Amino acid sequence: MLSRRLHNRRTFLGLGAGVGLACVGTALYMHYIEPFRLQLRQLSVRLRHAPAGRPLRLLHLSDLHHSDPPALQRIRRAIRMGLEAGPDLACITGDFITADLLQPDALAVALRELSDRVPTYACLGNHDAGPWAAQRGGHLQIAEMRAFLARAGIQCLFNEACTVHVAEQELVLVGVGDLLAGDCDPARAFRGLPAGSRLRLVLCHNPDAKERLAPYAWDLMLCGHTHGGQLCLPLLGTPFAPIRDHRYVAGLHEWSGRLLYVTRGVGNVHGLRLNCPPELALLTLS
Ligand SMILES: [Fe+2]
Repeated sequence: MLSRRLHNRRTFLGLGAGVGLACVGTALYMHYIEPFRLQLRQLSVRLRHAPAGRPLRLLHLSDLHHSDPPALQRIRRAIRMGLEAGPDLACITGDFITADLLQPDALAVALRELSDRVPTYACLGNHDAGPWAAQRGGHLQIAEMRAFLARAGIQCLFNEACTVHVAEQELVLVGVGDLLAGDCDPARAFRGLPAGSRLRLVLCHNPDAKERLAPYAWDLMLCGHTHGGQLCLPLLGTPFAPIRDHRYVAGLHEWSGRLLYVTRGVGNVHGLRLNCPPELALLTLS
């Protein structure tokens, strides 16, 4: 009887130790390994208004979340991986930082590595500046963030549009302010854009803003914000993705006759990822 009790107790303790070790191992993996498993995702995207010449190679980065030295290393690596893919232009869809602009010179140098090689455009995310960020410890004004990006060679489109000439072709880029910050103003962004058959891309941090953009003409919207859900849990999916419409947590989707691409992003918040490695995307537009 006594030996049976001892056996049961040993089994119980062994099981407990096994579960404990598995939890610790998973936590270490989520913090030290998966956030650094950066992947280059390559996709062919067929659009209604195709580029007139050869397919365009667009590098999409998002959610760099520069906040500490490991983040800067990850950003440099993402930029180098992206450049090796040979893009014609690059778009960054917000959340360059998490709260404050730390090591601005080092971050500007890292971003310059990209913008010196390919024309680079951006929109802002909720973490970058403005009222949402201010309530969570951010101190930057929109104008300060835009000035920093200009210093890094990046044209920030804040409720505005521009015509881009790249690879002997012409396309229109429209960038909107962030939805959570209360800055998303597509009426202002699209104002004065001539009707036409040129390819139109929208840079919009939060995919939940798509309904606001529905009345306007565009072909492809590039988004970030979700980090792909960051933690993709068996059976539960992505309960922590900070969006209302969980159909668009990550990937390429058709929506209302156009396309959305939502990237999992390069960085993260809280330093954890599970079943959701960081990515940069090379979209071949044809
Ligand atoms: Fe983000």
